[in-house]
Amino acid sequence: MEETRARITREGIRIYEDADFAGMREAGRQVAEILDLCGPLVKPGVTTAEIDDFIRAEVERRGLTSATIGYKGYQHASCISINHVVCHGIPGPKVLAEGDITNIDVTVIVDGWFGDSSRMYVAGRAPRKAERLMEVTHEALMRGIAAVKPGNTFGDIGHAIQTFVEAQRMSVVRDFCGHGLGRVFHAPPNVLHYGRAGKGPVLEEGMFFTIEPMVNLGRPETKVLADDWTAVTRDKSLSAQYEHSIGVTATGCEIFTLSPEGKFFKTWD
Ligand code: MF3
Ligand code: CO
Ligand code: CO
Repeated sequence: MEETRARITREGIRIYEDADFAGMREAGRQVAEILDLCGPLVKPGVTTAEIDDFIRAEVERRGLTSATIGYKGYQHASCISINHVVCHGIPGPKVLAEGDITNIDVTVIVDGWFGDSSRMYVAGRAPRKAERLMEVTHEALMRGIAAVKPGNTFGDIGHAIQTFVEAQRMSVVRDFCGHGLGRVFHAPPNVLHYGRAGKGPVLEEGMFFTIEPMVNLGRPETKVLADDWTAVTRDKSLSAQYEHSIGVTATGCEIFTLSPEGKFFKTWD
């Protein structure tokens, strides 16, 4: 049985086989296509529930399963996090206003493989400072990804992200992290978006995980609202997030959730 043959590292990180990359590639492509389709929906006057309804229908139309509906009691096909919401924003009657920035985070299951990705969107045109925050957050993710290759460590990823973000006088959220995934939604390790070079587990070919930095214009502290999901910045400063699912290869990594339309960073314009 292949489940029992799978190698797990000392830190509990599963090492997947070459053939498993195909499963993640398809799950990643599906979620990226769905996020591509969300671009035109995000505009002033639309509610986050309407966007979620579209995502739910699209997941169904494709014959896929939403990983978030029913997850720990969560009832929606996406998380939609506006302005000072850091993550896990619950879709609802909230109407998007001109200049709002929002993260849409979708996870689908395709033939048992989990594809998890999120991007930023803008209703109308974003204020300059918000656009800079999104640019820095995307660049932080890509710098983290650039640190991924066998022999490097998870600390190298966090270090690359943190040093870049803090040099821009923005802050990295500590209260939420990326995660291993594959045939499960959340698995070891916790992928921290801050840290020290050379620390943490060593990266090996066949590890699958997300990198999903949340960056704030103000201070890094967050709090979770009474709904038990919505995380916001304590100082009410703007927050942004980008997330890719990736797999470590012999020489670096493969990004499973690249946008087929080339609209990952800039879903707007
Ligand atoms: N997709 C989120 C992540 O990046 C998790 C959302 S869980 C939910 O890990 F229940 F809030 F949807
Ligand atoms: Co994730
Ligand atoms: Co996600």
